[in-house]
Amino acid sequence: MAFSSNGFLVILGLSCLMVAYGGNFHQDFDITWGDQKAKIFNGGQILSLSLDKTSGSGFKSKQEYLFGRIDMQLKLVAGNSAGTVTAYYLSSEGPTHDEIDFEFLGNLSGDPYIVHTNVFTQGKGNREQQFYLWFDPTRNFHTYSIIWNTQQIIFLVDNTPIRVFKNAETIGVPFPKTQPMRIYSSLWNADDWATRGGLVKTDWTKAPFTAYYRNFNVQTCSPRSCTSSSASSISNGAWQGQELDAYSRRRLRWVQKHFMIYNYCTDLKRFPQGIPAECRRSRFL
Ligand SMILES: *[C@@H]1O[C@H](CO)[C@@H](O)[C@H](O)[C@H]1NC(C)=O
Repeated sequence: MAFSSNGFLVILGLSCLMVAYGGNFHQDFDITWGDQKAKIFNGGQILSLSLDKTSGSGFKSKQEYLFGRIDMQLKLVAGNSAGTVTAYYLSSEGPTHDEIDFEFLGNLSGDPYIVHTNVFTQGKGNREQQFYLWFDPTRNFHTYSIIWNTQQIIFLVDNTPIRVFKNAETIGVPFPKTQPMRIYSSLWNADDWATRGGLVKTDWTKAPFTAYYRNFNVQTCSPRSCTSSSASSISNGAWQGQELDAYSRRRLRWVQKHFMIYNYCTDLKRFPQGIPAECRRSRFL
């Protein structure tokens, strides 16, 4: 099966039914933190999180997902957002959990947000890559997506891939493929580290700080055809064949060349015994 949207061509080799689902925040998410500071409105079409001096707020998905493509549109905290962090991520539970992270580090008005990404496998992260964006993420909604299949994890911004984490199990790097994950998001204060390494503090006279969410969409296996099958047939099944086409690879290189500001794979000081194994074989360094 092949389809193309905005030039992003994906080939799917599916052995189980694909379900595309446009979500409703009332049905699909629970507010987990901050009570009144998280709001759902427009009949479930929009959710907002806010942060003031007393607390931040957060939500999580009711469902768990094992592989799929998950899209969410976010409009980040506008104006002076220094010290605030908006986290948007997938995570399983427990000490050996897997996690796929987007974190948006706020800044003074007019200064760039940092998009911080990380991948945890079996409870271990330390795989940060950071980017600036090629637009102001506070003016409009933009789409942040995660494609997760047995072969790779792709982070996308407005359908442009910014990061690919490949399955490197053959060289001993664990890959998330057995633990289902929920979607989480939260807005909190992290002015001890987030903006210019903690130099710029949150200006509470600008509170409350608010971020908006809409158009949640998930394409995954239908529960009936997937969760009833064994883990191994899941890993042989959905999302297996999804690869970047030539255009998307060019876009990825463009982002990595012009907007990437930190890559753990090139941080030799941090890994004196040698960079992590998965970095050595990455095609996108
Ligand atoms: C904030 O702006 C400064 C100056 O442009 C920049 O160095 C920094 O990377 C920006 N982002 C964060 C989150 O500190």
